[in-house]
Amino acid sequence: TRLVYFDETDSTNTRARKLAEEGAPHGTLVVADRQTAGKGRRGKSWVSPAGTGIWMSMVLRPSMSPMSASMLTLIAGLAVVRGVKESTGLEAMIKWPNDAVLNGKKICGILTEMSTEVECIRYVIPGIGINVNMDGFPEEIKATATSLKLEAGRSIKRSLVIAAVADNFEYYYDIFMKTCDMSGLRDDYNKSLVNLGREVLVLDPRGQYKGKALGIDGEGSLLVRREDGNVSAVISGEVSV
Ligand code: BTN
Repeated sequence: TRLVYFDETDSTNTRARKLAEEGAPHGTLVVADRQTAGKGRRGKSWVSPAGTGIWMSMVLRPSMSPMSASMLTLIAGLAVVRGVKESTGLEAMIKWPNDAVLNGKKICGILTEMSTEVECIRYVIPGIGINVNMDGFPEEIKATATSLKLEAGRSIKRSLVIAAVADNFEYYYDIFMKTCDMSGLRDDYNKSLVNLGREVLVLDPRGQYKGKALGIDGEGSLLVRREDGNVSAVISGEVSV
């Protein structure tokens, strides 16, 4: 793995994209101490102050369909949860599709970007943000965000977490590559799924509905048993607990 480190950058995802365009090889890891324009999902910004968090993005060049590649975001979530456990002992859980939560509050968000060409992947950039040593959060996210330090009651060494997450990503990526889907990993994933067996609200653009989360299937979709007994596969989007 090639590691590219910045004290400061706009966004490690944007940086990783640029490096990928310039030919950076598969496995390049981009890490920054501080992001000045950290990006969240749905056009939101991501608070990324210096010294307290992990802001990292990977350049991957798998040969597979965009559909398969989109599942790499689930692999990243799994790698975070297992990497955090190994390096800190904290048992974070996955909130489908790829947030990591501790005691119901978010400690990690993942933004995956990709570039495709005629249904072929040029590169995929999973970007991972982990709240590590923050002592508090801005008013707007205070109720829903936490950090590893706040949960563990002690400071956490970021380099250990980065190494553990990267190691776990490699481990799960190799299993994923055997089938290019989640069939070999759905049990592992569902074991860490905070939504499992719980009531969820599916925010489907065609209409919201409630149901019980049954876990993901081999395609990475969340299976939800609706109140009428039918099971729906939620391909992408949001569920709220
Ligand atoms: C979310 O909205 O939950 C996704 C947040 C993703 C944040 C990470 S931090 C590293 C990488 N670079 C970015 O600009 N965003 C991702």
